[in-house]
Amino acid sequence: MTDISYQKRFIAQGNVYLPHIVVIDKIIDETPGVRTFHFNFKDEKLQEEFTFESGQFGEYSVFGVGEAPFCISSSPTRRDYLEFTVQRAGKVTNTLHRLGVGAEIGFRGPYGNSFPLDQLQDKNLVFVGGGIGLAPLRSLIWNVLDNRDKYQNIDIIYGARSPADLCFRYDLDSWDKDKTINMVITVDKGDETWTGREGFVPQILEQVAPSAQNAVAIVCGPPIMIRFTFPVLEKLGFTPEQMLTTLEKRMKCGIGKCGRCNIGNIYVCRDGPVFTYAQIKNFVSSEY
Ligand code: FES
Repeated sequence: MTDISYQKRFIAQGNVYLPHIVVIDKIIDETPGVRTFHFNFKDEKLQEEFTFESGQFGEYSVFGVGEAPFCISSSPTRRDYLEFTVQRAGKVTNTLHRLGVGAEIGFRGPYGNSFPLDQLQDKNLVFVGGGIGLAPLRSLIWNVLDNRDKYQNIDIIYGARSPADLCFRYDLDSWDKDKTINMVITVDKGDETWTGREGFVPQILEQVAPSAQNAVAIVCGPPIMIRFTFPVLEKLGFTPEQMLTTLEKRMKCGIGKCGRCNIGNIYVCRDGPVFTYAQIKNFVSSEY
């Protein structure tokens, strides 16, 4: 479980908006518009002390430009580095994409709740991801794989708009080779080199039809994919309590103060970002 007292201590060092300095030590081009940044705290003691749980996020700042929230896309089981993955979309993300190895940025966190690992134990896990939405799932998938004997069957259904938009190809290759995982990759539309599946993630999920028996589905992707995936899971027999997702849109302060992440009666940063479908089903189709 998350050590809340530790996290409060780590975060509450005076000004809650004051970031720690972290150094980017590796950059991975995932797709033409998505990069993964591998980083460590400048202060070695902080690096040693820092802990987080899969599903939590951080606020990353480019000094003089601004800050933005991103999930920690590495697994807490790999303690010698941290990663976050960024799609180029606005001022902060464009600036992040221009940074090179050795650049220093700000980090505050970890914030938010996490995937309930205790409740996933001894369950069949069905991961459903789309595009860069694989980032938070990937943290959990590696976490689960590093403790493989605690979990039952694993299905991973992942898709992107085109082959060029598939993120974390090195992970996809590794999971594809893992005989304990049923890995299904799809693209909305292939190109001349693509020999794999074509079709939208919810359609492919329906074809694969993983059993809902003793299972939990963990879903993350573009809002439209999430919206169409939940009804498919319901059709397959998953109850709203058996479906988890993580909502990361709209966040700003990350600590329940600015009100920007309010959807329905929840604050994504404070109450989430991980929710069961039961918690969000009343507004997910209209507001997210
Ligand atoms: S991001 Fe500011 S209240 Fe949630």
